Amino acid sequence: PGLDDLAKEAGLLYFGTAIDNISLNNTKYLSIAHNTSDFGQITPSNGQKWMYIEPARNVFNYSMGDAIIKPAKKNGQMRRCHTFLWHNQLPDWLTKTNYTKTELIKILENHIKNEATHYKNDCYAWDVVNEAFNDDGTYRKDLWLDTIGPEYIPLAFKFARKYVGRETKLYYNDYGIERVNNKSLAVQAMVQKFLNEDIPIDGVGFQAHFTVGRAPTYDDLRNSMKLFTTKPLELEVALTELDVRIQLPGTEEKLKAQADVYGASVKACMDEEECVGVTVWDFWDPVSWVPDTFPGYGDACLWDKEYKRKPAYFKIAEVL
Ligand code: XIL
Repeated sequence: PGLDDLAKEAGLLYFGTAIDNISLNNTKYLSIAHNTSDFGQITPSNGQKWMYIEPARNVFNYSMGDAIIKPAKKNGQMRRCHTFLWHNQLPDWLTKTNYTKTELIKILENHIKNEATHYKNDCYAWDVVNEAFNDDGTYRKDLWLDTIGPEYIPLAFKFARKYVGRETKLYYNDYGIERVNNKSLAVQAMVQKFLNEDIPIDGVGFQAHFTVGRAPTYDDLRNSMKLFTTKPLELEVALTELDVRIQLPGTEEKLKAQADVYGASVKACMDEEECVGVTVWDFWDPVSWVPDTFPGYGDACLWDKEYKRKPAYFKIAEVL
């Protein structure tokens, strides 16, 4: 049995992976990505982001998103859709013009309306808002906060609810919330406010981009998940972008430590009743985002460059 087979037996909805468009001409890669025994769920790493979906104002291009979502759907793999609203990977027409608040809210609604309608019923969940907080728990200063103010977040969720399919779950997604800290507590306070004000939200995504030697423990993860899964919030949670980077060069010892982090993270989700699934942020080292973003780090995935499954793969299989 593969990782998704084992995850389902363990009571999770899925074990999944992100896939990027650059990998779509690699048949060896695709044979692994579309092996439903390991991966029951797919997330597009880039294809559904604003700069690709709406490259000019009110001009929509779904080709990159469709190239990931359609084959996954045909193959019977669930889809997590990512993401309506982020501070990053925005088109120039949006970042290089000063819109008024009213105009920007219209732009936001129009974007969500079009993208949500195009992918209606295609997505198990949508990451509606991605990375809106700083590590100290304050709101991230970006275009949205500057022009609209903090109400851009509930507005995005209201727009999403209006246009996505009825069954689609709405998620807030962030990194650095995998421990009880200022950031996870700020997200918890926001969700509590949503609840008080009848703003729709179904889940919180823990990105889970970890580093060997500095990763949250099993208990850290359980405790931070409980911020959201217990009364009164009772939301679902998921590990949405799990990867565990290593300071290069990788050694056998570091790969073993990495396996332990992967294992503890998956086990934390498995043991948490309301944690629905785990998605790795790609499975193949050569196409991971890590080396580009964190110079000196890499080898963060479950398959190495020779397409060999690493100790982390077997550790997850053992834990599930
Ligand atoms: C990353 C992609 O993997 C890269 O290819 C891209 O250049 C930048 O974005 N958090 C997120 C993801 O929510 O969308 C990011 O994906 C990784 C961090």
